[in-house]
Amino acid sequence: MTRVLMVCLGNICRSPLAEGILKSKVYLHKTFIDSAGTGAYHVGEKPDRRSIAVANDHGIDISDQKARKFSKKDFENFDFIYVMDQSNYDNVVALASDENEKAKVKLILNEVFPGEDLDVPDPYYGGDFGFKNVYKMLNEACDLIAKKIN
Ligand code: 4NP
Repeated sequence: MTRVLMVCLGNICRSPLAEGILKSKVYLHKTFIDSAGTGAYHVGEKPDRRSIAVANDHGIDISDQKARKFSKKDFENFDFIYVMDQSNYDNVVALASDENEKAKVKLILNEVFPGEDLDVPDPYYGGDFGFKNVYKMLNEACDLIAKKIN
């Protein structure tokens, strides 16, 4: 079983979309996918309605997801931890106990643009365009991740 965790700040906009998109591209009997946030502001909430809407436009239902906070335990429970931006990276890596755990953490857009360290922009305070843009970026990244783990 390959285990993949998607991480953003709130776990209501970007990482729930990444979770839903990757789930749509892999064999679920051999892949476990989840998402979490580095912040606790939205714990227990459903994804942002704009993330639910853009996923829905592509035939993906993420409305059953519930936000949770990233925890140190996640380093044991997951093989790959994909973060959306540099700030998520710093927050997650700060909790790693050793180099092995640190090496599990990767900026998700480095799958598409290796070594460029690009961020998936936080769409929370913007309009619907931001969510469409995030969807497109995550869809490309998840195509490549799925190819790698399938
Ligand atoms: P996300 O977006 O990290 O993509 O889920 C955010 C959602 C909420 C907040 C920040 C980012 N917030 O500060 O409430």
